[in-house]
Amino acid sequence: MNIIRVANAEEGGKKAFELIKEGLANGANVFGLATGSTPETLYKEMTASDLDFSNCVSVNLDEYVGLAGDNDQSYRYFMNQHLFNQKPFKATYVPNGKAEDLAAECAHYEEIIAANPIDIQILGIGENAHIGFNEPGTPFDAKTSVVELTESTINANKRNFEKVEDVPTTAISMGIGSIMQGKKIILLAFGTAKAEAIANTVNGPVTTDVPASILQNHPDVTIIVDEAAASQL
Ligand code: GLP
Repeated sequence: MNIIRVANAEEGGKKAFELIKEGLANGANVFGLATGSTPETLYKEMTASDLDFSNCVSVNLDEYVGLAGDNDQSYRYFMNQHLFNQKPFKATYVPNGKAEDLAAECAHYEEIIAANPIDIQILGIGENAHIGFNEPGTPFDAKTSVVELTESTINANKRNFEKVEDVPTTAISMGIGSIMQGKKIILLAFGTAKAEAIANTVNGPVTTDVPASILQNHPDVTIIVDEAAASQL
């Protein structure tokens, strides 16, 4: 694992952007994207840049079950607001949280991933080291599926909702098996709340109790951390 330490989220966004720019120049055209506050500085760099993504495809990690794309709490809405509205892509995929048949939606999403092999996968990390919405205990070979969110994740994400009861308790998430197929993975983490998860991910045993620890087995992972997130390394 290649660890890059930065001063703050702004600098982290710039570093990740440099890697995206380099990837794009070298032919990368499918980007696995993440939501959450962590990648916001990266998306700011991307939208402010003159890079052209109009021949590129994006495949997002996850979506809350029950939220439509025009709901301002949905991940589709977040991506439109933070990136796609300003920086057009050829196609942008986010799981459909309103699908009537969720199992069929998961299978369909796997087909999308298979048809668009991810060149660069951007990841944030949960306080319990979840990636996407793959909570501790998720098998490492899992495909896209409907997952139950843990109390820790619901609590961490409630800041974006009016009240905790509004936070959906299930989501559709790309599986860890699918994430691991990305050719290059860039994980970003900022702030002390992520310090333990980062330490366990980098230095702990590879265990499903720490979903991100599987990244130790991936050949091309870069972890961009600020001092606070790196404080237990
Ligand atoms: C959610 C998302 C993850 C994200 C995590 C951390 O659970 N599904 O993809 O990494 O939140 O969010 P934040 O970056 O806001 O700390």
